[in-house]
Amino acid sequence: MSTTYPVYSPIRNHDEELAKAETGVDQLDLEREDRWYPKFHIASNGGWINDPNGLCRYKGRWHVYYQLHPYGTQWGPMHWGHVSSADMVSWRHDPIAMAPSLEEEKDGVFSGSAVIDDEGKLKFYYTGHRWNNGKDDTDGQWQVQMLADATDDDAIGLEKKGVVIDCPREKVDSHFRDPKVWKQDGVWHLIHGVSTADHRGQIWDYTSEDMINWTFQNVVFDDPDPDVFMLECPDFFPLEDKNGDTKWVIVFSAMGSKAKGYMNRNENNAGYMIGTWNPGEAFKPETEFRLLDCGANYYAPQSFEADGRRIMYGWMSPFSENAPMQSDGWCGQMTLPRECFLGEDGDLHTVPVPETDKLRINTFDHVARPIEANEEALVDEDAEAVEIELNINLQATTAERAGLKVHTTPDGSYTYVAYDAQAGTVVVDRQAAARGDRGYRAAKLTDEELSADELKLHVYVDRGSVEAYVNDGRHVLSSYSYPSEGKRAVKLSAESGTLAVNKLTLHDMKSIGLE
Ligand code: FRU
Repeated sequence: MSTTYPVYSPIRNHDEELAKAETGVDQLDLEREDRWYPKFHIASNGGWINDPNGLCRYKGRWHVYYQLHPYGTQWGPMHWGHVSSADMVSWRHDPIAMAPSLEEEKDGVFSGSAVIDDEGKLKFYYTGHRWNNGKDDTDGQWQVQMLADATDDDAIGLEKKGVVIDCPREKVDSHFRDPKVWKQDGVWHLIHGVSTADHRGQIWDYTSEDMINWTFQNVVFDDPDPDVFMLECPDFFPLEDKNGDTKWVIVFSAMGSKAKGYMNRNENNAGYMIGTWNPGEAFKPETEFRLLDCGANYYAPQSFEADGRRIMYGWMSPFSENAPMQSDGWCGQMTLPRECFLGEDGDLHTVPVPETDKLRINTFDHVARPIEANEEALVDEDAEAVEIELNINLQATTAERAGLKVHTTPDGSYTYVAYDAQAGTVVVDRQAAARGDRGYRAAKLTDEELSADELKLHVYVDRGSVEAYVNDGRHVLSSYSYPSEGKRAVKLSAESGTLAVNKLTLHDMKSIGLE
């Protein structure tokens, strides 16, 4: 007998679950410690968050939903938290949008995306998650794709509709999640990530005419990396290259990829490939897998299209257990919203949306004097939330490593954003961190970048994070950084040689309103 979709089977009262979850977050919020809580990045007012979900612009407002565990600062039964904004500058906390209340999502409302239907109504596709043994992942999981509709213009109320795609469990090694929906040539497409029965990472494409009945179409991407067993949070979108040709960018968060050189240094790694695609066919890659962000804390990005722009948020994943912020009543923040485009070099670039400039409250242009060999020059005595523009004159710089020490505190700890001339990289180095994970991450510069006159660093320092954009979004590195007590200085540093500065500008940043 074939199933008629959607399948809707409530087991708990959704409103009651939402009210309980609000109380959970409120309790954590009351005790929250703000030493590392972001001023200008999205975070929950309490609890654990992960992936950005349901990103959209709807009826004049920007919406960011996110995976939320409202009862603790570690991952747990997933809900959807919600913030929104009229201008992508000032944000407000909206009520929690979804809690597990149906049989098929009883252990979590997992990640998903938003889409506006032909009637102009907002819909959400997400994954319903159940543990096979009812308690943990030791016996695998049963995941299905679900639908919910927004019930009001502010997308505050979400009405669950139930399951629209069940899992063909014999073909799948229990991972089957994270739907992304869009319309292509008059047909609705839904892709999601799969771990196949033989443990390979794939992305499957389904099509639909009515957005409720979905038919499996084909495997749109089969990861050639044999170590990769699951592709989480797939995303797939067209961008025009410099010749006006359409390229497709496939984005996924690969589980299982192994570290090699500067690549795949995080526990799981989010990246992309550029290529071509025609509906009904597999994606044809023209590049290798490349990281979207080379920092220590980046995962599960999602993009959406609005105002003719392709905008992407990532989750700054703490990865390692017992991240310092977990003892402060909250855990996890989003990156800044980034606009995606293909550069002159044919590669994907991501830069903060121009709205970010509206967060500047003071601007200090520093005289661009050279920094002597082994000198450290104070730039700002106490920088809590700042944006720093540093243009390095590459040809006149002789230092083997030079750049910015941020979150420099009286105990001697700091995080170093530096150009490493020997390795030909830009690094975010947390070797001198007093708390949290140490080590460094590197973005490898191209030969063209290394022989250019100038290297442009654009560094956003929030209370507990550093986001470094290199050469107008050609590379990005996002890492948490947990400054110690006392003033948080910014210094310029040059090691074993001089640093020639073309430009140094600092902007104090105001709050986005979520504190
Ligand atoms: C990625 C992810 C998704 C899943 C969600 C659960 O970080 O594992 O695949 O839907 O988080 O919270």
